[in-house]
Amino acid sequence: MRNTLNARRTSISRRSFFRKGLAAAGMATTAGLLSRSSSFAKEGPEEKSGSLTKGDAAILRFLAAAEILETDFWVQYNELGGIPDSEVPGGSGNQAYTSALTVLDTDMAQYIHDNTEDEFTHQNFLNAYLVSKGADPVNLDRFKTLPGSLATGSSKTLRITNLTELTVDTSWWTRYRSRTKNPDFGDTFPQAIPTLAVGMHTAIPRTDDDTADANFLQAIANTAAFHFPTIEQGGTSLYPSLAQRVTDPEVLRIVLSIGPTETAHFQTWHDKAGNAPQVTAVDPVTHVSVTFPDLNSPPFGGEDFQTNLIMPEPCPFISRSLPVCSIIRPTETAGVAMGVARFLTNMGLFRGQPQEFFAALSDLAEDADEAHRNLA
Ligand SMILES: [Fe+2]
Ligand SMILES: [Fe+2]
Repeated sequence: MRNTLNARRTSISRRSFFRKGLAAAGMATTAGLLSRSSSFAKEGPEEKSGSLTKGDAAILRFLAAAEILETDFWVQYNELGGIPDSEVPGGSGNQAYTSALTVLDTDMAQYIHDNTEDEFTHQNFLNAYLVSKGADPVNLDRFKTLPGSLATGSSKTLRITNLTELTVDTSWWTRYRSRTKNPDFGDTFPQAIPTLAVGMHTAIPRTDDDTADANFLQAIANTAAFHFPTIEQGGTSLYPSLAQRVTDPEVLRIVLSIGPTETAHFQTWHDKAGNAPQVTAVDPVTHVSVTFPDLNSPPFGGEDFQTNLIMPEPCPFISRSLPVCSIIRPTETAGVAMGVARFLTNMGLFRGQPQEFFAALSDLAEDADEAHRNLA
């Protein structure tokens, strides 16, 4: 996330370029899309804040959007690898994919179900709270345009998020094991699964063809198992980062009460990812290769990779002259919403969405990043 924040700070000149040069449509890199959208932000009608401060409403709206996006992809995981039921309806389960996930832990389906239900409640609560205060909620239904999985078990409904072309940044693995570095000091961290951090990988069976080869199917399940904590560690940082700029005590209570459930998810998935079996596979459709190594043996291993070190190691916090502390990291508040929007975009979660989607997401993020504590 730090890298994307840095990218934002250096993007001012690029932003003005995009403002002037919208015709450069061929330059529709994800960064460009997010930067360029600032020219849209000032044009749309201002959202209503009701009795909330403008900043609090903007923070809650960005969180609602993030939760809608989380819900959208967790539902896809639940349809195929979770437990479709009355609590989390949709789909009918994919036995082969579910079995491959079970290799990591026999409770994977239950955890996927429960994580999915949690996201539903986050999304529903945040939007309902906004409405209860006379503020505008968030609705991203118009972006349900992506086909999703066509494999057995999928409801085959249209989706906002794309789980079939992911590039997964697994540096959180070493970030939470480091005793000397903190991303808020600008430190960077090596990948746990380097091949997952480049190229595009599917985390769900795209069609039933993807479940035919057990080796490739395990690689898909492992990809999902690393995508879960990658997402949830992002939520784990997002909530405390935004909390620092909330004004109303009740809104602060909401942000401080939802955030740690993201941490509960992260902690669980962090543990399960460490159980991913060693496998190397080549995607038969894209020919992209992925390798899940033994993280406990050279060239990995040691404290930075050891799989059972799932609790945050203490690290420098606030100042390197203070004692190290076991903490969530990063929690820098400046630019965090746009940083998260970029983090999700760079992950490939929105591949296939039109420019309008990135403009809308960027608009929500910019408004949240403009929020400040109003102590008057
Ligand atoms: Fe959530
Ligand atoms: Fe979450």
